[in-house]
Amino acid sequence: MPLTDKFGRPITDLRISITDRCNYKCVYCRTGNEGALYGDLPFDDYFRMARVLVGMGVTKIRLTGGEPLLRKGVIDFVRELAKLRTPNNGHGDPLDIALTTNGHLLADLAQPLKTAGLSRVTVSMDAVDPDRFARITRVPNGYDHVLAGIRAARRGGLWPLKVNCVLMRGFNEDQVVPFGKFAREEGVTVRFIEFMPLEEDRTWSPNTVVTLDEILTRMAEYRPLVEIPHARSETARRYCFDDGVGEIGIIAPVSHPFCGHCSRIRITSDGKIRTCLFSVWDHDLHAQMRRGATDQELEDFIRGVIQKKEERHHIGEPDFVPASRTMVHIGG
Ligand code: GTP
Ligand code: 5AD
Repeated sequence: MPLTDKFGRPITDLRISITDRCNYKCVYCRTGNEGALYGDLPFDDYFRMARVLVGMGVTKIRLTGGEPLLRKGVIDFVRELAKLRTPNNGHGDPLDIALTTNGHLLADLAQPLKTAGLSRVTVSMDAVDPDRFARITRVPNGYDHVLAGIRAARRGGLWPLKVNCVLMRGFNEDQVVPFGKFAREEGVTVRFIEFMPLEEDRTWSPNTVVTLDEILTRMAEYRPLVEIPHARSETARRYCFDDGVGEIGIIAPVSHPFCGHCSRIRITSDGKIRTCLFSVWDHDLHAQMRRGATDQELEDFIRGVIQKKEERHHIGEPDFVPASRTMVHIGG
């Protein structure tokens, strides 16, 4: 029986955070200091969770963090995941295995990750200017590493390669056009993301959000964008430039929520299931494993949890309650 929530949404997309440590301190995500940690689990435990969920209908796994490339053993983990097959009426298709990274350590790891079976990467990058990049990430000299990481991933065939840019007013709203040029020159898909209230510093207000409409207006000063079709469950609206060169995505959870087509669940680095980025509680899958649950019991637990998946988020509404974890502890 396919894994479906009580609103009829098929759950096919799993995100596993393999650590909540991060070597960056981006202003839209973390505090300027070290912050709290929930810790992580042995890879075997994530693997068992993934195996059970793939048996239940998950076809896509995204590894996240914190910064997942900080975790030793990530390549072996990808190799193991790549051996899993979707049930698909006995056809046994391979999984789509993706990874979201800040790119700092990617240059050396792109090729081994690809060889291990990773399908593609998404690199977070919020400015195409080294000084601005340092101001946002709050670490010096990251820009060149990330650029090298993007290029290595592209060369290594981790494709399609997406670059995520969270826009935050006062920090990088003027980067829209430079990123438009970057997408065309580097042959990557740049996706602008509206800033959501998931940051440790609690600086979010509606004014800090650079909306989809504003992004389109800013880009039009350079070149007009033409919308192209996107898959129903996709987070991003997709665009290409009027001459067909360069792809841009806009992820607009604040001004144009996409919860109605959500296909995602998340496992945190400490083994809890989150049914929504904005959940105010999580569900302790690892505790079930520690008490000796069988695979069937894990499956039953997961099915029960999926029925509690929230209908939608309430960002910007009077009844909004902040999520019980911030983004660095969820994984994006
Ligand atoms: P692919 O389709 O596999 O490439 O993944 P994706 O498009 O979901 O991309 P990615 O995982 O890079 O997510 C992009 C960003 O969208 C995240 O970093 C979040 O900022 C936002 N996002 C992802 N999932 C959700 C969600 O369920 N709700 C909300 N509100 N935002 C989300
Ligand atoms: N709002 C929107 N996106 C965010 N990300 C991190 N914090 C936020 C936020 N507050 C994005 C990062 C990264 C992904 C893991 O989540 O840019 O690409």
